[in-house]
Amino acid sequence: MMKDYLPIILQAERDAAAGDVVVALRKLRKLSLMDFSGLMWELPHPDLPHLNALLPRMASEDVQRAWTGAAGPQMMQGTVDFVRIMQTQFERICRRPLQQARILDYGCGYGRLARPMYWFTDPHDYYGVDPWNRSIELCTEDGILGNIAQSEYFPATLPVGEARFDLIYAYSIFTHTSLKATNAALRVLRDYIHSTGLLVITVRPIDFWQIVGRIPEADRQAQVAIHQRDGFAYVPDSFPVINGEVIFGDTTLTPEWLERSHPYWRVEAYDRGIDPWQTVLMLTPR
Ligand SMILES: C[S@@+](CC[C@H](N)C(=O)[O-])C[C@H]1O[C@@H](n2cnc3c(N)ncnc32)[C@H](O)[C@@H]1O
Repeated sequence: MMKDYLPIILQAERDAAAGDVVVALRKLRKLSLMDFSGLMWELPHPDLPHLNALLPRMASEDVQRAWTGAAGPQMMQGTVDFVRIMQTQFERICRRPLQQARILDYGCGYGRLARPMYWFTDPHDYYGVDPWNRSIELCTEDGILGNIAQSEYFPATLPVGEARFDLIYAYSIFTHTSLKATNAALRVLRDYIHSTGLLVITVRPIDFWQIVGRIPEADRQAQVAIHQRDGFAYVPDSFPVINGEVIFGDTTLTPEWLERSHPYWRVEAYDRGIDPWQTVLMLTPR
């Protein structure tokens, strides 16, 4: 953090003494998105007891690595990189600011992306769902703000009540889900998007099969052929098994497969950030 901008944090710390997280966040949004996120990654901080009391504490390095493959400043910068892509694409495609949008984080994990999203939206408009009870426990234990609930692996509805969303995102979900789980999720998310909203998902390209170490060479070539033929390829990992099916593994899919299989979504654009294995697709409801 540049020292020039520390006074913003100290002012927010004084304001946080009143116990109102919305007021504290309003002050902290004077920070750049990068500095705001950097602060979130450093909480709890010994000099900021009032902000510590209102804002989530950062997940441990072990949790960060287990859910998202990296930790610390490197993870924070990759996270901000993705958030900036979402902001740019949302504002370009939906022609309105992302500020104060109602947001659904589909497969929220330990709440990594929730933290920078508070730069845009107050907690009451942030919703995070994940089917794994351990993800939900971590969000709760660390004090993730907003609406957190456990969803299902093959959801027909989502635990968000009547809420409909301006922005739904799913980072590193469709890079892993089986065909059945992918289809169920893409279908159900259509029911929860606002008619002028945006769904942002990450997917893996065909080239991924060249680098996936856990699969023998012959099987990788088979997946390349399946991806070319069907537009969707999936190799299960060892867990979890739901209804007799391993629903999580490695997945590649094409925008053409998505529009063909789910014609109620239009692929508006793709984008690419610093992680070459997370192609970002922007979808609008037809
Ligand atoms: C690699 S982590 C990514 C977490 C979070 N999106 C992030 O980027 O920090 C994958 C998450 O997907 C969740 N998940 C697994 N199957 C899912 C499904 N069918 N629908 C939604 N989420 C799922 C897991 O529980 C896990 O939290």
